[in-house]
Amino acid sequence: MKILVTGGAGFIGSNLIPELLRTGEHEISVLDNESSGRFADIADYPIDFTRGDLLDEDVLAQAVAGRDAIIHLAADARVIDSIADPRRNFETNVVGTFKLLEAARQAGTRRIVYASTAGAILGEAPAPIDETMVARPLSPYGASKLAAEGYLCAFGAAYGIRTLSLRFSNVFGPKSYRKGSVIAHFFKRLIADEPLIVYGDGSQVRDYLFVGDLVRGIAAAIGKAATGTYQLGSGRPTSLSELLAAMRQAIGPNVPMRIAYAPFRAGEVHTTWCDISLAREKLGFDPSTSLVEGLATTWAWFQKVDQETLSAPTCV
Ligand SMILES: NC(=O)c1ccc[n+]([C@@H]2O[C@H](COP(=O)([O-])OP(=O)(O)OC[C@H]3O[C@@H](n4cnc5c(N)ncnc54)[C@H](O)[C@@H]3O)[C@@H](O)[C@H]2O)c1
Repeated sequence: MKILVTGGAGFIGSNLIPELLRTGEHEISVLDNESSGRFADIADYPIDFTRGDLLDEDVLAQAVAGRDAIIHLAADARVIDSIADPRRNFETNVVGTFKLLEAARQAGTRRIVYASTAGAILGEAPAPIDETMVARPLSPYGASKLAAEGYLCAFGAAYGIRTLSLRFSNVFGPKSYRKGSVIAHFFKRLIADEPLIVYGDGSQVRDYLFVGDLVRGIAAAIGKAATGTYQLGSGRPTSLSELLAAMRQAIGPNVPMRIAYAPFRAGEVHTTWCDISLAREKLGFDPSTSLVEGLATTWAWFQKVDQETLSAPTCV
């Protein structure tokens, strides 16, 4: 298959590309404006790279031409910033996705897989969350992802494009150095010998999905007939205290790990994790990496990366 990956230079994209190339069956092109990703992270792979913006219709038309499938990862994924600047988030995530779908429709693309999100779309919902729950996004970012899912569904029904929305949980892994997510943040602080700040008592629960499991799931899903919405998570609830214990195991006893406690942050969802039985059944999704194993692989990557990379500003 000839596959276009939008946002392929980002954290998930740069892990996905080697997975897509692994079987030798696919020809990969990437469209990315490098607003948060870096071409350098995928420069070693045999891909066709376009540095360009999703909002540029000429660039899009060229990028989708002749592609059998699109994996749409490009987004403004900054939840907090979307509250300060909802319009910018809307333009990239909603208008950008709409323009991509229109370009794909004109070009006759038959398959589109979209990177959506579970927690930000559903907001406060009883855990474990699943695909049938009513969406009540709490941030413009969550709303933008929900709107884009709506357009994917509509383009599937109206134009026969096989569209699939995959709702990711909290993804972690190698190459997450520009992410502000908890595991990347904690590993960077450990390397800088800074204390890890826990807001609250560590009882907050999340679903941490190793990026290796996620990219295997995405690569497998592209060839499946399935359409609609599916959650991709680990399917495991993990409290912050359990995460810290797993990190301690993954990094070994010799790395100092200081923890400081601060009050709970207002507005933070306390407990969310995913029921992934639908993805297991229909997509054959099987996240088999244990938390400690995934953390050890991530930690090994963070340790070997150079200081300049580690000090890159956090974008997302
Ligand atoms: N990382 C997670 O835990 C997580 C969880 C749920 C959903 N997602 C979704 O998965 C996707 C990938 O996330 P990520 O963590 O790799 O984020 P990322 O920021 O590392 O990657 C996004 C990529 O898109 C590119 N991009 C942004 N705006 C663009 C534009 N207008 N035109 C072209 N390229 C553009 C960026 O340069 C970057 O390389 C996003 O859609 C995100 O919302 C991620």
